[in-house]
Amino acid sequence: QLPIVLTGVSSGIGARTAQILSGRGVPLIGIDRNAPTQFSGTFVQADLSSQAGLDAAAAAAAAAAPHGIAGLANIAGVPGTAPWRTVLSVNVFGVRGLVRTLAPLLGEGTAVVNLASSVAVQWRDVKERCSAFALAADQAAALDSVANDKEITGESYLFSKQCVRFLTEHLAAELLPQRIRVNSVSPGPVATPILEDFKKDHGRDKVEGAGALLGRFGEPDDIAPVIDFLLRPESGWVNGSDIRVDGGLGAYRGSALA
Ligand code: NAI
Repeated sequence: QLPIVLTGVSSGIGARTAQILSGRGVPLIGIDRNAPTQFSGTFVQADLSSQAGLDAAAAAAAAAAPHGIAGLANIAGVPGTAPWRTVLSVNVFGVRGLVRTLAPLLGEGTAVVNLASSVAVQWRDVKERCSAFALAADQAAALDSVANDKEITGESYLFSKQCVRFLTEHLAAELLPQRIRVNSVSPGPVATPILEDFKKDHGRDKVEGAGALLGRFGEPDDIAPVIDFLLRPESGWVNGSDIRVDGGLGAYRGSALA
């Protein structure tokens, strides 16, 4: 059985996804900047915020999977409390880089899943900006080009996740001839370490208010089974889609009741 490559395996949603995949006997190659406390498979310690880290991660994954891989889940993510260059590098170019470099290892019928976010609403309005940024040939130049755009640098997490939705559709189209599917999952607020950063970034009241509206925060177990489903052949006709898994938050915010 070919392995699945996952990023962000050392915490939260990625750790739970790894457990579920291991539980059904899938060999794993896990990538994270932090070593996991619990992980069964080949672990690659790499920082996906730099090109060097991305290259090292892709090379180590390729070396561990000489016969190819059965899927790729880009779960690692950085909150908006980190410097905007780091947020955009990991959340956008990390995803693009791993998909493009590992695509040759992904055979027909395999799948890629990217983690976007339920906050990335109205993404069609920013499609042109995401297209110019996320598809730029030169990553460093793309980052420099938005350095004075306060809307982007001030809301780097939101923009990064809008770009993930955009990239997901774009990569699904790009990889359609190879029969590799690409989908995204957009969680609402999930009780993992990143939630504390969201409280600092978006405001404690807003995040706590969302939890109160929904009755509870999400758990990794609300999200990981959806990622698992998108990696399996049973979801073979789901392609280029985003699945919002947010307890109804997006529906509420987009409604006349909000
Ligand atoms: P988490 O903070 O528990 O896990 C994130 C993982 O990504 C950590 O293991 C971390 O070490 C890894 N990571 C961060 N920067 C990295 C880098 N430069 N190189 C390598 N690994 C790096 O967060 P959680 O909740 O598991 O988040 C998973 C994904 O879900 C992220 O993409 C996040 O943006 C997204 N998401 C999470 C939500 C939440 O409320 N928890 C809501 C919406 C989206």
